[in-house]
Amino acid sequence: MTFGPGITGALCVAATLLASAPVLAGPGPDDDELVVNGKIVMVTETSPPAHVEGFDRIWSGWRFRTDETQAMQMDDFDNPATLFVEAAAGVWSMADGSAGKSCASCHDDVSTMAGVKAVYPKWNRAEGEVRSIEMQVNDCRTTRMGAEAWQYDGGEMTNTVALLASVSRGMPVNVAIDGPARETWERGREMYYTRFGQLELSCANCHEDNYGNMIRADHLSQGHTNGFPAYRLKNTRLNSVHSRFNGCVRDTRAHTFAPGSPEFVALELYVASRGNGLSIEGPSVRN
Ligand code: HEC
Ligand code: HEC
Repeated sequence: MTFGPGITGALCVAATLLASAPVLAGPGPDDDELVVNGKIVMVTETSPPAHVEGFDRIWSGWRFRTDETQAMQMDDFDNPATLFVEAAAGVWSMADGSAGKSCASCHDDVSTMAGVKAVYPKWNRAEGEVRSIEMQVNDCRTTRMGAEAWQYDGGEMTNTVALLASVSRGMPVNVAIDGPARETWERGREMYYTRFGQLELSCANCHEDNYGNMIRADHLSQGHTNGFPAYRLKNTRLNSVHSRFNGCVRDTRAHTFAPGSPEFVALELYVASRGNGLSIEGPSVRN
């Protein structure tokens, strides 16, 4: 393996770590319990779904964060993402587009969306495709409201997805992978095990083979998506799941895929299915 001059320390560590025996053994997940606002009890650890072979247990990414970062997610007053969710709650009832409608015109209070985030990405029969929740929201905007599509991983979209996640908090991730969604799921699975970039690393090399270990200052989790959108301390805003995928693929020095691309939607379905049974935590707080 050759390294260009731009390879960061983190990635050299990653490559060393993956080329030899794990040298930077980390502490693994901690034993903390996540209860949000003193009342939403989150499942952050459970048995893996039957189709996952690489794990004996699955843990939410929250269990790999420091106590300080964990604490920020335990109360909405301390969670910086609350501001973004509140902004989206305002947009929910704001009319936009040629039909003069808002989300609330058809969907009433956002609480009617409880449980929806937990089952996305989901097969859409009419369109014959697996849709991420962002695709569904943009379909409502363009075909039902006569409004412009939001940028796939832009602020308005990600805030709205966080609002949708927030009303599903504590419910188990439960994406369907059978029937017509199967083919998409299989494409996502193949991507997950494909080695990308100059570093020739697959998602599994980091999140399956090395979770619990340290890459520089980062404590590697199993890479689940139940916490998305995630407020990242690194960029102080909400991040969509495709932005996260984008960052992870880029870190392998690979040409990456666009947010909203069919590749990332397939990967999202597969990765979400690995976390079936963990609670929806979005918006979470992560590094
Ligand atoms: C004119 C009515 C209308 C408006 C306005 C509207 N939607 Fe929808 N929405 C629908 C219908 C109808 C469906 C079901 C479509 C389907 O199953 O194909 C739907 C489905 C959805 C779903 C998926 C629900 C599920 O159970 O899978 C989400 C999420 C959603 N809309 C979000 C939004 C958001 C966010 C807005 C505002 C930006 C919005 N919608 C505006 C009519 C509307
Ligand atoms: C070089 C190692 C590496 C590779 C390869 C990698 N990631 Fe990551 N990933 C990380 C690190 C480091 C983090 C931040 C710490 C954590 O949450 O694990 C992360 C975080 C994540 C998260 C957020 C988890 C959470 O709870 O917030 C997801 C989801 C994720 N990765 C998915 C993927 C997918 C899908 C792939 C393959 C396309 C991938 N990663 C490839 C290193 C990697």
